[in-house]
Amino acid sequence: MKHSFEKGFFAPLPVLIIGTYDANGTPDAMNAAWGGQIGMTQVSVSLSGSHKTTDNIKLNREFTIAYATTEQIAACDYVGIVSGNNVADKLEKCGLTVTKSDKVNAPVIDQLPVTIECKVIDIQEEFGETRVVAEVVGLKADDNVLTDGKVDYSKVGLVIYDTVSKTYRTVGGSVAAARSVGKKYE
Ligand SMILES: Cc1cc2nc3c(=O)[nH]c(=O)nc-3n(C[C@H](O)[C@H](O)[C@H](O)COP(=O)(O)O)c2cc1C
Repeated sequence: MKHSFEKGFFAPLPVLIIGTYDANGTPDAMNAAWGGQIGMTQVSVSLSGSHKTTDNIKLNREFTIAYATTEQIAACDYVGIVSGNNVADKLEKCGLTVTKSDKVNAPVIDQLPVTIECKVIDIQEEFGETRVVAEVVGLKADDNVLTDGKVDYSKVGLVIYDTVSKTYRTVGGSVAAARSVGKKYE
């Protein structure tokens, strides 16, 4: 028998850490689960209008997205609990340091191994949410998550957000080759 539910419907959700600068060049970061890829080169994130990140993105129209990791999960959670509007040294408090991206006016968090650099294409404000659509202009990855010069997601320590249990879950191993295992039905 199949049961019906009204919420918690999309799984898995990513754990994206959005990096921005404010008008004074102070870095901020927030945790976002409501985000994803659009087509080959664009991303979208859905932000509450009250966040410092939302103001920073409107100001600079550039930001970064890093993947949260198991190793930094407490810091990644912390940036989703407190606002840079209330805690000026939010990143220092949880041990995160940043280096300015060479592609966008936004911080790359040193402790997170994979970061996407984004330029805003469109901002839509509706129902109290700010939907940001952006073009990906670059990706930075640390040496220790590469295999043969490519990002190896088995080395990143990726986590996903489970909205039902409200926990972060690890991402497991691969089960089959994509666009390949299904060929047996061709
Ligand atoms: C697991 C998790 C997921 C979150 N996802 C989102 C999201 O997708 N959109 C959003 O607006 N806020 C989301 N938040 C809340 C923000 O991260 C949080 O309000 C943060 O403090 C905002 O920081 P800022 O004001 O410094 O930008 C999430 C928080 C957590 C812990």
